[in-house]
Amino acid sequence: MVTSQPGSGVTAALDWVMDKSLVLGYTKVGPALRRRWWPADPAPGALAGRHVLVTGATGGLGLATAAGLARLGAVVHVTGRDAGRLERARATLLSDQPDASVETHVSDVSDLAGTAEFARDLASRVPRLHALVHNAGVMPPKRTTTDEGHELALATHVLGPHVLTFGLRESLAGGRVVLVTSGGAYAQRLDVDDPEFTQGTYSGTAAYARTKRMQLVLAPLWARELGGDAVTVASMHPGWADTPGVTESLPGFAKVTGPLLRDAEQGADTAVWLAATGDPIDSGRFWHDRRQRATHYAPVRVETPGEVERFWAFVCETTGVPAPVR
Ligand SMILES: NC(=O)c1ccc[n+]([C@@H]2O[C@H](COP(=O)([O-])OP(=O)(O)OC[C@H]3O[C@@H](n4cnc5c(N)ncnc54)[C@H](OP(=O)(O)O)[C@@H]3O)[C@@H](O)[C@H]2O)c1
Repeated sequence: MVTSQPGSGVTAALDWVMDKSLVLGYTKVGPALRRRWWPADPAPGALAGRHVLVTGATGGLGLATAAGLARLGAVVHVTGRDAGRLERARATLLSDQPDASVETHVSDVSDLAGTAEFARDLASRVPRLHALVHNAGVMPPKRTTTDEGHELALATHVLGPHVLTFGLRESLAGGRVVLVTSGGAYAQRLDVDDPEFTQGTYSGTAAYARTKRMQLVLAPLWARELGGDAVTVASMHPGWADTPGVTESLPGFAKVTGPLLRDAEQGADTAVWLAATGDPIDSGRFWHDRRQRATHYAPVRVETPGEVERFWAFVCETTGVPAPVR
């Protein structure tokens, strides 16, 4: 069943204009206006006792997402690469919500073998996982490869999340998977010829946006693959939010947009809503501010079905999951 799009024709048109204008839709103006017509908040206690996992939750949007889910009663599992930053995140979550259940896990999602091991361990201890939010993100200043030889943005945004999702497949049955992508994906087409960005001049912003496009393409593929387990998949973009990632990776952008940037809670809102709402969600779709969005704007062309299948084959072969049927 499809979640109905909120609002009358007039609000739908206004919402669309805001989206196209970028500044109105992506900044804090977006949620300030759209909350008048967007779908209801999840019920208080909607996630009481349910386990959720948020990757990259030591700061920024991941921490805000974990806080939002904890406020709804979830047992929150958070990951990051550094034990000290995770401890500080736990303290922040507990100061916001003193009765929250928070479990921290040192896990680098760009390390595919380590991520598979983490998934095995978590699945053995948490047989039912209500939601997995793939939030961890990076904009490498120069081309960097992981110890396993993968370009870092690709490993962090695409390959690692794929390994984690399929490693937790059984625990996620009946649950939700949310991919935190970016409006930057609109600027890039799916590149199936050079997914590891080995050719041309490397740019961190281009690598970031290319792999964010891949996340958009991945969502319906995961929905197709995991539909049999009743896992609902969504991708979303947060707009422009004031986080360490934005101020450190894009200082010029942060300076110009500063007063208009969303706070982290506003940026995380749709990820929390998608993970927690009791409304049915049409699997595989792309969301922003609690509304389904177009995945492409001209002049960036839509990928062909052949390109999508080549991309899927690349991701499955590179990660080894799901295991090929023999
Ligand atoms: N802020 C925005 O305006 C905006 C806009 C569009 C999309 N997004 C997306 O939203 C997500 C969060 O962005 P943000 O702005 O909050 O970024 P941020 O402030 O840089 O936070 C990134 C988080 O990811 C974690 N992380 C990075 N690499 C990791 C890895 N390999 N394994 C595990 N954790 C890792 C970091 O934790 P440690 O360093 O402690 O490991 C940190 O907690 C990203 O996916 C980003 O692309 C943000």
